[in-house]
Amino acid sequence: MKWFGVVSVLSGLAISPVFAQGTDAQQREAFVSHLMKQMTLEEKIGQLRLISVGPDNPKEAIRDGISKGQIGAIFNTVTRPDIRLMQDQAMQLGRLKIPLFFAYDVVHGQRTVFPISLGLAASFDLEAIALSGRISAQEASDDGLNMTFSPMVDITRDPRWGRVSEGFGEDTWLVSKIAKVMVDAYQNGDPSKPGSVMASVKHFALYGATEGGRDYNTVDMSPLRMHQDYLPPYKAAVDAGSGGVMVSLNSVNGVPATANPWLLKDLLRDQWGFKGITISDHGAIKELIKHGVAEDARDAVRLAITSGVDMSMSDEYYDKYLPGLVKEGRVAESEIDRACRDVLNTKYDMGLFKDPYNHLGPAGADPQDTNAESRLHRAQARVIARNTLVLLKNDNQTLPLQKQGTIALIGPMADSQRDIMGSWSAAGVVKQSITVREGLHNAVGEKANILYAKGANITQDKSIIDYLNLYEPAVVFDSRSPQQMIDEAVKVARQADVVVAVVGESQGMAHEASSRADITIPPSQRNLIAALKATGKPIVLVLMNGRPLALGWESEHSDAMLETWFSGTEGGNAIADVLFGDYNPSGKLPMTFPRSVGQIPMYYNHLNSGRPFNKENPGKYTSRYFDSPNGPLYPFGYGLSYTQFALSDFTLSSAEMARNGKITASVTLKNTGKYDGATVVQLYVQDVAASVSRPIKELRNFKKVMLRAGQQQRVELPLTEEDLKFYNASLKWGAEPGKFNVFVGLDSDNVQQQSFTLK
Ligand code: NOJ
Repeated sequence: MKWFGVVSVLSGLAISPVFAQGTDAQQREAFVSHLMKQMTLEEKIGQLRLISVGPDNPKEAIRDGISKGQIGAIFNTVTRPDIRLMQDQAMQLGRLKIPLFFAYDVVHGQRTVFPISLGLAASFDLEAIALSGRISAQEASDDGLNMTFSPMVDITRDPRWGRVSEGFGEDTWLVSKIAKVMVDAYQNGDPSKPGSVMASVKHFALYGATEGGRDYNTVDMSPLRMHQDYLPPYKAAVDAGSGGVMVSLNSVNGVPATANPWLLKDLLRDQWGFKGITISDHGAIKELIKHGVAEDARDAVRLAITSGVDMSMSDEYYDKYLPGLVKEGRVAESEIDRACRDVLNTKYDMGLFKDPYNHLGPAGADPQDTNAESRLHRAQARVIARNTLVLLKNDNQTLPLQKQGTIALIGPMADSQRDIMGSWSAAGVVKQSITVREGLHNAVGEKANILYAKGANITQDKSIIDYLNLYEPAVVFDSRSPQQMIDEAVKVARQADVVVAVVGESQGMAHEASSRADITIPPSQRNLIAALKATGKPIVLVLMNGRPLALGWESEHSDAMLETWFSGTEGGNAIADVLFGDYNPSGKLPMTFPRSVGQIPMYYNHLNSGRPFNKENPGKYTSRYFDSPNGPLYPFGYGLSYTQFALSDFTLSSAEMARNGKITASVTLKNTGKYDGATVVQLYVQDVAASVSRPIKELRNFKKVMLRAGQQQRVELPLTEEDLKFYNASLKWGAEPGKFNVFVGLDSDNVQQQSFTLK
């Protein structure tokens, strides 16, 4: 047990001089190699098991496994006392005293819940997004956690998929930027430090392209599209140093990701140089049987480990079958060593060998109340949340509202603490979230009268309600008849000066396993909106939803619409800030909002085709639908303000760009309205003629600019050759000489154009 003395963790000293020489990587290599020499095959396999605590795995059973060296890491345990007990078990009873690491889905906050990721992307504010990530990491680390299964950077172009809520939208460039921001925010340069956690980017790869938007479905994609559009965000996270990669549940061109050595070895390790751990998704190894690539569980294990899956999430089979597979020679022991080394390296990088309690601290310092208010970051959550709200429509300046008179607040989501948190709300406590109802009351105090009625159930479809309530009592179903509820709401509306209706989806409708074939607001709520509209009162729709919805009908039956996503713990206050004009909305859509489900997939950066549809001159034989207006209802990058902005004098610093060169696009942004406010100036590029067809435009830069009423500013947005590069038909990355169009606008549709030539 020589290494035992070396792991000075245990005595609180620095790592023994034996290993304290050489570079960090050499020290780690020496340390881990020495440790592995002491380990039996079974102990190495134990390190590959990531186990969840839950009804199937009671704490006692897990502790027994820990003491026998059969478990490498734990997820879904989120309090310091619980985590400490398990770490004690490993450190006191484990033969080699190898610390565990602890992981959790901290996707958009831990105790403080921030807006869902799609909402965060709508802020177009990388600093705000970074702040949400930093606070999430601090709170997660303060709960004793070492890793988050985040960021989720799947490119999403199909709003039927419920998991679009977890990602940052459709744009590869923007999502890649955010991927780096989030990894940096979580790891903060060193995941071992208190206040940091290791990131595990997911879901590798291409999960967002699941066919038909149906969860867990097949992905089939050309190599060009894969490299151009879907892989870059994962690569950006890996380049930023993400310690983990979670493997996706889908197949990739016929081969499930969990059994895909091209993906997990050739691309991820050999081409991208990834050095961390790969983790299977929940149940994915067993699912190889249903995918039809493994004969049985034993075969599935062989495939997963030899394809490069290091850790088995919720493992049932690695410990059962790997020892035998190795003994029979069907899996080389070197595969186990490789995977085990990845896990031990990860623990080393987490600082756990120096101090297994580095995120836990001493037992006496555990918070007396895990859910204490003092542990939340409410002020920051409110500032971030209001940044994410997108004003879709505002006829006759219905918004902002006055803090006077009578306001009718109506709708199934208006007072729902659970819904406003969104799905994947980690350790957030429902009772701590601020609903729109509470936010409105906080904002107006005694100045205005707020009347409330629920007005409708989210849906009257009992089978959907049962689906949503399968694992938690998430949706409260009102047993009054729909007409009774509407009558009550109309009565309330008639007494008011304005109606604020909070409608959309409940959080469970935009989650894992929550694909929709219909992306409209359910009929129960539409009937409510129609009845409210018939009162003749101004109607403000506050939309809560985790995906783009088809909102054509709603837009015709309302005066104003504010997209609020699921805005988190402080959502109600943030929404009130915007409704009353204490904050002027500045969010922009990170995903195209189609008119109907039939238009999907619909994304702004599509190829032109040989027969593009032209609004001015539609023609017959063009790429269009003849039974629907063409184009989106709201384009990518769209979002209004209470003030107006105008762009003028768009110039390029040169009509030519040299190789490795740079040009600067400049445009004057003027706030021509009456309110101070911020907007996002967006820069798009199009390669006019290249060796492969290139998108009609692609985002390559943006700037969020705050201007006082009447103020103007020259906004400069640089472009470099790097921004012009793409994969050609041989998958070579580079820029091709020729003409480029450059567009600036306040959304992706309404743009001004200039051109230059790349030499
Ligand atoms: C399954 C989900 O697909 C994944 O995103 C998540 O991280 C794991 N479960 C763990 O909860």
